[in-house]
Amino acid sequence: MILVTGGAGFIGGNFVLDWLAQYDEPIVNLDRLTYAGNLETLQSLDGDSRHIFVHGDIGDGPLVDALLATHRPRAIVHFAAESHVDRSLHGPEDFIHTNVTGTFRLLESVRRYFGGLSDGERSLFRFLHVSTDEVFGSLAPGAAPFTETSTYEPNSPYSASKAASDHLVRAWHFSYGVPTLITHCSNNYGPYHFPEKLIPLVILNALAGKGLPIYGDGLQVRDWLYVKDHCAAIRRVLEAGTPGEAYNIGGWNEKPNIEVVRTLCHHLDRFRPRTDGKLYEAQIRYVTDRPGHDRRYAIDAGKLYRELGWRPVETFDSGLEKTVRWYLDHSQWVENVTSGAYRQWVQRHYGS
Ligand code: NAD
Ligand code: DAU
Repeated sequence: MILVTGGAGFIGGNFVLDWLAQYDEPIVNLDRLTYAGNLETLQSLDGDSRHIFVHGDIGDGPLVDALLATHRPRAIVHFAAESHVDRSLHGPEDFIHTNVTGTFRLLESVRRYFGGLSDGERSLFRFLHVSTDEVFGSLAPGAAPFTETSTYEPNSPYSASKAASDHLVRAWHFSYGVPTLITHCSNNYGPYHFPEKLIPLVILNALAGKGLPIYGDGLQVRDWLYVKDHCAAIRRVLEAGTPGEAYNIGGWNEKPNIEVVRTLCHHLDRFRPRTDGKLYEAQIRYVTDRPGHDRRYAIDAGKLYRELGWRPVETFDSGLEKTVRWYLDHSQWVENVTSGAYRQWVQRHYGS
């Protein structure tokens, strides 16, 4: 079996669902269920003995030691993190707790476990750390996309904490021989995305008749990837990646934020037109920029393509259309996830 951390979050949840749709190999899913963790995402697995959910913190050494000893996973895929840049600006401490200290403690449990494996088990064992393109900082317009050897230049508390965790993972490979893999992925979107991030926020605000907040001039560029393509890339790296190596994962889909928002409005105009006959674009509002806002991210995923044959399946248009349809068809999931705590966050961050 494999152990997944953060498997009740956006990407981890999609990963667990996709894995169990394709393989019979069970998953132990360790998740602390922060505001971003949602077991409703995994409701279709209720009663499925291949999914063992454990409510707990990656930094709880005795718990993780016991889980490893009991289930003896052949691999760990580490998604658990505080993942929202805006939240990291308001309160960085949670990011240090989970992304840095939590990853450190998890690595220590893994080191103990790995040390007790037989030679055969050790040669097969993998620890895959899910990182981000944000650790490389911001690209100038026209600069070549990030490669795996780009310099680390994190600019937000979130990206700094992810960079720190990457360095720990690397060190646990070189110092202790843990067979680690690191992936750097660009911006994901798709089903079960928590509506504090741009794409689900815009879909839900549009439907609710609220403003669509664009930070600054809206010309910041992100490289968007459909979440299921990210999950496929992780499965491929887990299967065939070389221990100690890092792999970039991206969509070859660089888009300025304003274009993303306009495309979302266009899909909504087609599938759920406003009742007053106006276009959703009328709801766009330019608001104060995010402090330290990175201008551009772009990923060169050529290594993953050349060495392991992975490429995304979805185009930006097909993935975005699927995503809009998914949110329109899953209003109950949305309603349940936008709890009181979520509404407080929106009030605190965007004001009235
Ligand atoms: P998310 O915020 O949706 O989910 C994070 C999950 O981790 C939640 O289920 C939460 O409950 C859990 N968690 C948080 N702290 C924990 C702890 N201490 N112990 C156990 N569980 C804990 O995040 P996401 O968007 O799914 O991102 C998953 C991973 O992918 C993160 O490591 C993130 O840095 C990385 N990543 C995300 C993106 C993106 O676009 N969302 C892109 C590249 C990389
Ligand atoms: O690049 C990978 C990263 O992508 C991941 O590591 C992070 O976990 C993930 O959250 C995401 O970070 P971003 O900051 O790029 O995502 P977010 O959806 O918060 O913002 C996307 C862009 O949209 C960014 O330039 C900020 C802008 N934005 C965001 C919000 C929430 C707005 O203009 N308005 C908004 O209200």
